[in-house]
Amino acid sequence: MRKPAILGGEPAFKEPLHVGRPNLPDKNVFWKYVDRIFDSRWLTNNGPLVREFQEKLEKFLHVKYCVPVCNGTIALELAERALNFKDEVILPSYTFVATAHSLQWQRITPVFADISKFDVTIDSESIKKVLTPNTTGIIGVHVYGHPCDYKKIGSIADTHNINVLYDAAHSFGCEVDNIPIANLGRASVFSFHATKFFNSFEGGAVTTNDESLAEQIRLMTNFGFNGFEKDTVDYLGINGKMTEVSAAMGLAMLHSIESIRENNKQNFEKYREAITDIEGISLIEPPQNLTKHNWQYVIVLVDREQFGIDRDTLIQALEAENVLARRYFYPGCHQMQPYRECFPDYSLILPNTDIISAKVISFPTGQTIGQEEIIGIAECLQSISHNRNHFHG
Ligand SMILES: Cc1ncc(COP(=O)(O)O)c(C=O)c1O
Repeated sequence: MRKPAILGGEPAFKEPLHVGRPNLPDKNVFWKYVDRIFDSRWLTNNGPLVREFQEKLEKFLHVKYCVPVCNGTIALELAERALNFKDEVILPSYTFVATAHSLQWQRITPVFADISKFDVTIDSESIKKVLTPNTTGIIGVHVYGHPCDYKKIGSIADTHNINVLYDAAHSFGCEVDNIPIANLGRASVFSFHATKFFNSFEGGAVTTNDESLAEQIRLMTNFGFNGFEKDTVDYLGINGKMTEVSAAMGLAMLHSIESIRENNKQNFEKYREAITDIEGISLIEPPQNLTKHNWQYVIVLVDREQFGIDRDTLIQALEAENVLARRYFYPGCHQMQPYRECFPDYSLILPNTDIISAKVISFPTGQTIGQEEIIGIAECLQSISHNRNHFHG
């Protein structure tokens, strides 16, 4: 058994292995789209590539309307405003902080609900506990691409006559019960950030099957200008436009997306096989009803008692091996500023969020990781666990 690097052994990898290292399309395909930008001199403002990207996304995501925008956070803010979210909106604390910030930024109070400890998405019973007469909406986050319990959430929303928005930043290309993910709720939001399964450098989109909602969001994305009479402003708007070069990247990525998906799936299966016998390390499996997955994340939970060392020490030991694993998500948003000070008692009602975020590790996957690296990472885990006693002295 090798000696862990943190205890003086040689690092397992010469170059660091990162979580979220970007997936890239074929360079030549990308350059062909970029040539079109130079030919047209159309750089932004709903140019031809953005329009082509929009149409292709509508087909790919099987949704009627898609509005490409500059990033996922702005997509959230636009959708929340168009859905008339105000006062209080319920969301999970176990999410990327942008979900909460997008509300707070608009002076809407984010009200945190707990997650299910099985699929780590928002728990419908917890939603019921934090509902008040001031609740105007629910944001479900399909964490790691795991679909929220859309049936129960939909029924709560119907009973209280409020809208559901889904943060589908992790769910590009996913289906639940054979339903393409963008068809849930009144609208969904995607992120095409560089670290995502599918990227357009930076970018995002709002999708919906509601024509007037889509039109409203489209206008809001361009300062509220009415598209036909260019000097007329119909809404309070913002600059949320996607650039042509982002659309070029997105269009090129669509050519590669199925091979990236397949690579992710093989990686996930290799991790499953390689770490299955390591006591105290458990892989979070996708739920059964996730009928199409992008396999974007490899998430494990570390049981301190069984594994022998705690999650944070393990992260440090992996870093010494040049395996840059991440605590994703840690801590829950309720533990971050400004929420920690505004709502100091939240931990009392978010036990699963605190438990999962204290154990979670995200491992490197994507195009830059192959079977060999995964075997090497599993060997690191084994050697660290084998030497557990040396970490306490
Ligand atoms: C769950 C979630 N919501 C929202 C966002 C924000 O997206 P963006 O970085 O494109 O603004 C991200 C990712 O960054 C995310 O993971």
